[in-house]
Amino acid sequence: MSQTEPKSKNITWHHGKLSPEEREKLVGQKGAVIWLTGLSGSGKSTVACEVEHALIENGINAYVLDGDNIRHGLNNNLGFSPEDRSENIRRIGEVAKLFCEANVVTLTAFISPYRADRDRVREIVPQGQFFEVFCDAPLDTCEERDPKGLYKKARAGEIPEFTGISAPYEAPENPELVLKTGAEDLELSTRRVLEILEEKGILSL
Ligand code: ADX
Repeated sequence: MSQTEPKSKNITWHHGKLSPEEREKLVGQKGAVIWLTGLSGSGKSTVACEVEHALIENGINAYVLDGDNIRHGLNNNLGFSPEDRSENIRRIGEVAKLFCEANVVTLTAFISPYRADRDRVREIVPQGQFFEVFCDAPLDTCEERDPKGLYKKARAGEIPEFTGISAPYEAPENPELVLKTGAEDLELSTRRVLEILEEKGILSL
């Protein structure tokens, strides 16, 4: 199943004047979705922002969609139940797809704990433009870092359904890239993301 049917019936797709190829040529860059997944505190947002900065410095338009930030706006009606997390990822997948179609290198930093939800996003983004990047830091390390003090609260029973403690995290089986964000430094992780984008022709216009 790729997408659910729209609720509205009398709707017709309106085609623009530009093909994806023409747009790419005129805009001067290709879009991509760099889907960072991993536990809270695994470094997703930090890597995303570093890559975004490096790309923009090099004249490539890039943008970060961040879990905590998006939950202040577009997704401020969602919590952390399994259903709400799926809806969170569905919406962000659709937003990331739109950004990608607008030829922006889009970096998403969401725990996105369920494999099926991430796979659904992979299905809607054109082949070769979706990169699942697993920020693979051990739970112990994330808990030690505890940048927002949330693990401590979760252990104390103050936050229910906390990923890694009382809610599941399903690690990717076949990600495009694994970053050992518990061990390797930010510079190396950033370089490895940039390298794969170069290798796969996203940055080679
Ligand atoms: S996701 O599971 O739906 O993908 P998302 O990435 O949007 O999660 O948000 C995760 C962030 O929300 C965490 O980094 C943390 O700061 C905060 N948070 C608050 N409550 C929880 C919880 N129960 N589980 C995980 N993260 C939580």
